[in-house]
Amino acid sequence: MSFYGLTVCLFPLFSQMLGSPQSLPKMKRSFYAARDLYKYRHSYPVCTHTLNSPHLPSGIYIEEILTKWRGDYDKLEHNHTYIQWLFPLREQGLNFYAHELTQDEIKEFQSTREAKRRFLVAYSLMLDFYGVKLLDKSGNVARAPNWQERFRHLNESQHNYLRITRILKSLGELGYESFKAPLVRLFLEESLCHSTLPNMQHSILEYFVYTIRLPATRRRLLRYARQHYRPAHAFLWGPLPKRQRGVAGGNVGAGSSGIRAPAPSPEQQRRGEESCRNATTLFKVYVTLESSRRTIRFHLK
Ligand SMILES: *[C@@H]1O[C@H](CO)[C@@H](O)[C@H](O)[C@H]1NC(C)=O
Ligand SMILES: *[C@@H]1O[C@H](CO)[C@@H](O)[C@H](O)[C@H]1NC(C)=O
Ligand SMILES: *[C@@H]1O[C@H](CO)[C@@H](O)[C@H](O)[C@H]1NC(C)=O
Repeated sequence: MSFYGLTVCLFPLFSQMLGSPQSLPKMKRSFYAARDLYKYRHSYPVCTHTLNSPHLPSGIYIEEILTKWRGDYDKLEHNHTYIQWLFPLREQGLNFYAHELTQDEIKEFQSTREAKRRFLVAYSLMLDFYGVKLLDKSGNVARAPNWQERFRHLNESQHNYLRITRILKSLGELGYESFKAPLVRLFLEESLCHSTLPNMQHSILEYFVYTIRLPATRRRLLRYARQHYRPAHAFLWGPLPKRQRGVAGGNVGAGSSGIRAPAPSPEQQRRGEESCRNATTLFKVYVTLESSRRTIRFHLK
C-alpha cells in the first residue's frame, strides 16, 4: 500500500522537476503527470495509506507561520516542511510526518469558519511570496507591487512549481475549486504573453491547468494558451483542433489530458475506503483547536 502511495506521488514530482523546457530539447507530455492529475480530478479512487504511528514533533502554532513568516522569503524558500501542513492533500507528500487529509477532516474543515479563514491567509501568504496579490474572496488575483523581484525569483526557483501544484490541489480539496482558474490564468498570461515567467510554461500546461476539475474551465484556459503559445505547432495540450482530429485517430475531448488512470478494482476500492475510515486523525492542521489558547496546534517534523 505504501508503495502505491509513493508511485502516484513521486513520479510526477520528478518529471515536474526535470520537465522544464530547458532540460527537454523536445517537449513531451508526461504520462505520470497526466495520470496523477486524472486521479486527482476524479477524487482519488484509492485513498492512500495512513501512517501507523505518526511522529509527534515539537509543536509550533499555525498562527506563528501565518503572521511571522509573511514576507520572510528566505524562510519560505528554504524550509521544506511547512507546505504540506499548510496545504494538506489526500495523498502522501514528501514530508512523511505530515498526515494526509481524510474525508472527515475535509467536512470538519468546511464547517469551521476560523479554519477557512486561516487557510485563505495561508494562500495569500504563499501568493505574496510569488509576487501575486489575492484581491477578493472569489480568488481573483493580480500582480503584487513587488512582482518584478518575486517573478524573477519564481522564474528561477523551479521547486516552487511543485508547491504550486500542491496548493492548487489543496484548494480544490478544501472547497476553493473556483480559486484555481484565476491563478492559472494569471500565470499563463505572464509566461506566454509577457515572458515574465518563461520557465514556468511547461508546469502550467502540464500540471496547473490539469488540476482544474471542471472540463469547461480547463478548455477555456487551454484555448487561451493555444492562442498565445509559440511556436504554435508545438502546442501539445488539450484536444486537437477539429481539422487535425481525424489524423490523430479520434483525440480525446474536453480539455482532457488524453490519459486515463485505470479504474480501481472493487478490492482496491474497498481497501481504500477502509483505510480512510481507519485513519487516525491525529493531525488536523486547521481544525484542532487547543482549548486553552484558542490557537491551532501545528506540528512540524
Ligand atoms: C522549518 O521550520 C520549522 C518551524 O519553524 C523548524 O522547526 C524546522 O527546523 C525548519 N526546517 C528547516 C530545514 O529549516
Ligand atoms: C528566466 O530564467 C531563464 C533562465 O533559466 C532566463 O534565461 C530568463 O531570462 C529568465 N527570465 C526572466 C524574465 O527572469
Ligand atoms: C482497519 O481496521 C481494522 C480493525 O481495526 C483492521 O482489521 C483492518 O485491517 C484495517 N484496514 C486497513 C486498510 O488498515
